[in-house]
Amino acid sequence: MKPWEHFTSRRSFLFTGLAVGAGAVGAGLFENEVSAFADANSSGLTPGDAAILRFLAAAEILETDLWQQYNELGGIQDNEVLGGSGSAPFTAALQVLDSDMDQYIHDNTEDEFTHFTFINAYLASKGKETVNLDRFRTLPSSKATGAQQIGRLTNLMQLTVDTSWWTRYRSRTKNPDFGDTFAQAVPGLSSGQFPAIPRDDGDLSPKDHLQAIANTAGFHFAFIEQGGTSLYPSLAQRVTHPEVLRILLSIGPTETQHFQTWQDKAGNAPPLTDPTNGLVFPALNSTPFGGEDFQTNLIMPEPTVFLNRKFPVCSIIRPTETHGAAMGAVKALTANGLFIGQPPAFFALLHDLAEAADAARHGS
Ligand SMILES: [Fe+2]
Ligand SMILES: [Fe+2]
Repeated sequence: MKPWEHFTSRRSFLFTGLAVGAGAVGAGLFENEVSAFADANSSGLTPGDAAILRFLAAAEILETDLWQQYNELGGIQDNEVLGGSGSAPFTAALQVLDSDMDQYIHDNTEDEFTHFTFINAYLASKGKETVNLDRFRTLPSSKATGAQQIGRLTNLMQLTVDTSWWTRYRSRTKNPDFGDTFAQAVPGLSSGQFPAIPRDDGDLSPKDHLQAIANTAGFHFAFIEQGGTSLYPSLAQRVTHPEVLRILLSIGPTETQHFQTWQDKAGNAPPLTDPTNGLVFPALNSTPFGGEDFQTNLIMPEPTVFLNRKFPVCSIIRPTETHGAAMGAVKALTANGLFIGQPPAFFALLHDLAEAADAARHGS
């Protein structure tokens, strides 16, 4: 149902009810009744608001699960982010990208915990169904020293990482919302399957293999967070309740803060070839790479076309198309290999949540 159809049918029902109950109704009374109805309605969430929040809660639970795995091996384990005991060799390989990587991984992980916990608590406070994916925590943990041995929702050991976000944010002429496509920064990562954490202690050597795993993680961090950076503004366009809009506008930009940090760090990934599988991390500042589309310190978004090519270019988040945004996120995460090993029921649930979120319309 289109939003205007819903609106029309609700209004006509109201109008009919008044006409029957009160006979000749003055214009003033009708207006009062309408605003009373609107006030009562605005104290709760629309079904669309709840569906969008539920999809976001699911996405945040999945994000938390993958970040927790990174933190156990490459972050800081403390009372803010429990679990794991760290892998000194993997932590050191990550620190080649930035000496503070362990702190950033810890803080990103903590943020994701708070995102899903808050959204679920907010849904519950409004009497709405919350999201729990615990029955799908069945995927294996890394066997490397430092990882907890518990069931996982996500698989970080067979990733295919789309690195086109790199050139997408550096392009001055293209926008994915116009159907434009973008070159990969690390073409090798975008085909094939690669671990982003050591699968076991055998992955801790040789040196360039472990560094390739850390580099993969570095590009994956930014891939995940650019997704959140687009998802929140894309879905915000279809919420109704001002407080739900506030939630999306307040969480979304923290995803962007994460992305901005991670794309800076990914640029520090040392060029190398993994001797075990041939995965190449190219020198992004040299030919055939280099130039504005690859230069590693161009971490501020380049302005590009927005809404219509007739407008002057604008520095913006991209994409932000709202149509099908939730299902688009599911497809991107699935193509990333994060859910390899999950049963059909997992994908069915994720699709249902995304479909409901994408059916939401402002006002319904
Ligand atoms: Fe998040
Ligand atoms: Fe995130």
